[in-house]
Amino acid sequence: MKLLVIGNGGREHALAWKLSLSPRVHKVFVAPGNAGTELEPALQNIPITSFPDLIDFAKKEQIAITLVGPEIPLAAGIVDAFRAAGLKIFGPTRQAAQLETSKTFAKKFMTRHNIPTAAYASFEHPDLAHAYIEKQHGAPLVIKANGLAAGKGVFIARTAEQAHAAVNALLVENNLGTAGNEIIIEEYIEGTEASFIVMTDGVHILPLATSQDHKRLLDGNLGPNTGGMGAYSPTPFVTPSLHAQIMRNIMDPVVNGMMKEGITYTGFLYAGLMITPENQVKVLEFNCRLGDPETQPILLRLRSDLVALIEHAIDGTLDKANIEWDRRTALGVVMASSGYPEKPRQNDAISGLRELIAVQQQTDNFHIFQAGTALGGKDDEIVTAGGRVLCVVALEENIKLAQQFAYKLIEKIHFDGSQIRHDIGYQGINYQKKNIPN
Ligand code: AMP
Ligand code: GLY
Repeated sequence: MKLLVIGNGGREHALAWKLSLSPRVHKVFVAPGNAGTELEPALQNIPITSFPDLIDFAKKEQIAITLVGPEIPLAAGIVDAFRAAGLKIFGPTRQAAQLETSKTFAKKFMTRHNIPTAAYASFEHPDLAHAYIEKQHGAPLVIKANGLAAGKGVFIARTAEQAHAAVNALLVENNLGTAGNEIIIEEYIEGTEASFIVMTDGVHILPLATSQDHKRLLDGNLGPNTGGMGAYSPTPFVTPSLHAQIMRNIMDPVVNGMMKEGITYTGFLYAGLMITPENQVKVLEFNCRLGDPETQPILLRLRSDLVALIEHAIDGTLDKANIEWDRRTALGVVMASSGYPEKPRQNDAISGLRELIAVQQQTDNFHIFQAGTALGGKDDEIVTAGGRVLCVVALEENIKLAQQFAYKLIEKIHFDGSQIRHDIGYQGINYQKKNIPN
């Protein structure tokens, strides 16, 4: 069969690569893809992005299933459009995607269904928001734009002044445009963050392996928020008992609640979680898709045929699906371009990467998933073409070894101005030192 993946990031490279390993798959098209997907033997990029053109392409090529990576096409209703054209696609409809595209929708939904999350209030008028901040007796508070903002819509205010400034930036200066026409102000929750991603057919839920992202640009979780600078899977923070708590208190009520409200949710569903010191799990946000970079380490560990899992999800038989994971830890480190996240520079030549791509064809213990890359110049060089450039994922016996291996691989890759974090996985390593005496 032939498949189609929509998107051009590292997550989509990993998805398309994993799908192409299925013995039943003949070819995976990626629209529009990047240099990484272009260079994978079983993948082919197609330079199409408009829905009508994608639908024509899927019909003409007799695409068996289409998978959507990013939130933007989901928010714009790509699933609705493909289904209306009689095509098989895996992902939430535009209405279901509101769990990510509208923070007020997600918050009200969580309140209706008793799903644990930070207390909040929502505002469209700056005066009311300012008054609310004063009434909260100070900071810290978290101010969030209602709409999609590519990681730029969340302000952690440590002081009341910062909270007032965030309100003004969104509601008065309109810095994020319509995404910030409505805001929520929520309670700051202390704890450890983890990512929890499931697949659902609308009724049954299949949890994927656990993971932890690193959202801040700099070591020690400092610096500005980014799309994510690295991730590893599994994370020891999600213990078996927390796993059960997350399924019981969060994932089951979300999927059931959506069904009861008549907006059946199919697709991947990602909950960004805070685990409090009292071992209570609260939802920070939902995403209506796989995480990036979480997908890269998660899929490197997936032993099952991803195509079979997606088929079960589309047919409503996910309860019959079997999912197997490599017991080892996968750890991915993102290399970002100079200037990321504010003003990423493009067109820096990347060296050392082609040599590693040749090696990775012969091993299953690492893979480099490309994101902001393109082929350019006279020798078909790989050059940077975006903020997060690539994610080097290594598979090893434990977090520490996977970390060492990933950084050893990173040393072989070079481009001017590259930015990495040097501590991906550090919280997991510290946790294990404390909890597993040797
Ligand atoms: P979000 O896009 O909602 O996941 O927020 C981005 C980041 O802001 C999260 O990864 C957290 O680090 C932080 N954050 C969001 N909401 C809260 C909260 N209520 N309390 C503490 N930190 C938060
Ligand atoms: N890594 C966070 C996200 O995908 O939203």
